[in-house]
Amino acid sequence: MRKKIVGSSWKMHITTKSEVDVLAMDIVEGVKDISNVDMFLIPTFPLIDHLANILSDSNVAWGAQNMAFADYGAYTGEVPAPTLAQLGCTVIELGHAERRANFNESDHSVNKKVKLCLDYKMTPLVCIGETKAEKDDGVGNVRVKTQVLWTLDGVKPEDVDKIIFAYEPVWAIGQSEGANADYVEDMHRFIRYVIASEVGNDIAQSVRIIYGGSVKLESAYELISKKNIDGLFTGRFALTAKNYIAIAALVSKYVQEKEGN
Ligand code: PGA
Repeated sequence: MRKKIVGSSWKMHITTKSEVDVLAMDIVEGVKDISNVDMFLIPTFPLIDHLANILSDSNVAWGAQNMAFADYGAYTGEVPAPTLAQLGCTVIELGHAERRANFNESDHSVNKKVKLCLDYKMTPLVCIGETKAEKDDGVGNVRVKTQVLWTLDGVKPEDVDKIIFAYEPVWAIGQSEGANADYVEDMHRFIRYVIASEVGNDIAQSVRIIYGGSVKLESAYELISKKNIDGLFTGRFALTAKNYIAIAALVSKYVQEKEGN
């Protein structure tokens, strides 16, 4: 059984230590009894250390929103894997649509980062998803397949299930409504099929694929009850502790009732 995930990236919405305090301290308290869901929070780089101090004795992990494709050297302004590992990051978000659109993040650089991240024993959280134009032209699956294949290139088969895929259709991010749960399930099944075609079905069945894009409490249950949706990746909705806790509690209750653990 794949353990479900509720993660949240704070993008650049949370900008000060005092905002981190307000959010993270309440989250720690609110989710302290949840053990059947993996949870993580991802702040901006300079706030990682502060967040880590709050989360260090909790059941909530933390990570980074990006990472350099090299682990040291002359790369001004970049943040390397060893630094993130030392800060206790366990999950590194890679290739988010906003990085692809605004900072020239390519499938090639994401692939380098995935391998480096694994070398440093951290979990790559690889964001993939088609644009609206690709969806409308009927080539959304081509785009997603390409991103999955780039992600996996050169990754050892035994490392593939250490990767988490976040399916985030570009057209569903930052909207009032996310993608329809049936549509998401179809894409997740397709992503798993592409993984299976590379490394076999056994490994593909153990890879976790989570959904992100305007997730709200109202949409959470339907999404999480789909066979291939292994968790939720929240943005704006979970910028209050109350909302993050509510989604985590909903997923935890679902797991308890449906999966018996
Ligand atoms: P959103 O962000 O929930 O604010 O749409 C999701 C994401 O980009 O991961």
